[in-house]
Amino acid sequence: MTMHPGERKKVFVKTYGCQMNVYDSGRMQDALENDGYQNTEVLEEADLVLLNTCHIREKAAEKVYSEIGRLKKLKEQRSATNRPMTIGVTGCVAQAEGSEILKRAPAVDLVAGPQTYHNLAGIVRRAELGERVVETEFEIEEKFRQLATATPKQTRSRGVAAFLTVQEGCDKFCTFCVVPYTRGAEVSRPVSQIMDEARKMVAAGVREITLLGQNVNAWHGLGADGREWRLGELLRELATVDGLERLRYTTSHPVDMDRGLIEAHRELDCLMPYLHLPVQAGSDRILKAMNRHHTIDDYRHVIGMVREVRPDIAISGDFIVGFPGESDEDFEATLDLVREIGYASAFSFKYSTRPGTPGADMENQVPEPVKGERLQRLQALLNEQQEAFNRDCIGQEMVILLEKPGRKQDQLIGRSPYLQSVIVDSSLGVPGDMVHVRITGAAPNSLSAKPV
Ligand code: SAH
Ligand code: SF4
Ligand code: F3S
Repeated sequence: MTMHPGERKKVFVKTYGCQMNVYDSGRMQDALENDGYQNTEVLEEADLVLLNTCHIREKAAEKVYSEIGRLKKLKEQRSATNRPMTIGVTGCVAQAEGSEILKRAPAVDLVAGPQTYHNLAGIVRRAELGERVVETEFEIEEKFRQLATATPKQTRSRGVAAFLTVQEGCDKFCTFCVVPYTRGAEVSRPVSQIMDEARKMVAAGVREITLLGQNVNAWHGLGADGREWRLGELLRELATVDGLERLRYTTSHPVDMDRGLIEAHRELDCLMPYLHLPVQAGSDRILKAMNRHHTIDDYRHVIGMVREVRPDIAISGDFIVGFPGESDEDFEATLDLVREIGYASAFSFKYSTRPGTPGADMENQVPEPVKGERLQRLQALLNEQQEAFNRDCIGQEMVILLEKPGRKQDQLIGRSPYLQSVIVDSSLGVPGDMVHVRITGAAPNSLSAKPV
């Protein structure tokens, strides 16, 4: 491979982990594009490979090292040409492990934590000149300021449903979780920045915005009326943006579900009837050991209030099985809670011991086979509930936001208000259209529909 005069260097970004990483990867690509790089989906032709990593569970963190192993071979082949390959690790593994990564994986040229991306172009340049760079400072305000510098073309490429980060970091310190260490303290983006970015997105064709934050409902900021706003007020303000059809937000913490936010679900038609509200476990004893700051009754109460203002709301959640000290009885309580609440969808995980978190030093770690068995039972129940929720949609009329063409001809894929993927039998319409459909079929992970 050779570099031709005038040719732009190419960057390949691989994203792991949560939606925040998806959003960050997009903004990193925008920033590098403004600095002369071109995005590529073809790994082999990349001059710069960035792995935007996740540290949440051991498996997620280990994936990075096997990927670096594969990249190392490519990099070696390229070193004989005039077109070397630079390898960078960004995201939460970068923040958590820092220079350790350079020691463990000599093929890596740069390590940049999630709050250094406003300097990414400079970091990359230094690495290309031969320095092995490690940047893990927390400079969140700087990062936020730089986020919205994308061109209209870049914004258009974000599609019709896109993410917008409004809050980053976490002060909750659940005893199992690395996020407070990898993303730092809770910081909210100012209202004006959020509104600017939202308007740009809508002008570029975005119809649905999902507000992102590690604790999105802990967002707060000075409002246009001079008062301190919380997420409910921000949603009301966003709802006034012409052409913005739909709003969502994720991920919420039960203790930050305040009245104003719950009332927004009653008032705002554009706020979709879907709430991702992780509870993690069904017993108060385990919630306390997890440092979740609330009880099962508090959680029930919040769900009750949300269902009162929006009876059709789809509830989703996250669960961890096998947290240290979790007994059979505690686990049965989780199953009972799931039966009581009824989830439209959910994510569930085996507890993974994370170095540096309090959970790692707790006694009574649950044996792997027990975790495995509990996870199977929980997932069987959650899958059943998801299928039942989807089945109940058959016959209903809904408005779908069309997102992309389907795999077959005369099919379009869209999203329901309840975040289900919907395959519409029709070639009438383009991404961005809101179409009325009747649901005609349900599968575990999608619905099918006909236009009405
Ligand atoms: N901020 C969000 C969740 C962020 S992490 C919240 O508070 O709900 C996403 C999910 O990963 C968590 O909800 C939890 O279910 C899971 N998770 C986090 N740390 C974990 C660990 N050490 N082992 C297993 N699952 C974990
Ligand atoms: Fe992690 Fe808990 Fe913070 Fe969520 S609230 S990011 S689970 S520490
Ligand atoms: Fe993973 Fe970091 Fe997100 S640890 S889940 S990428 S905040």
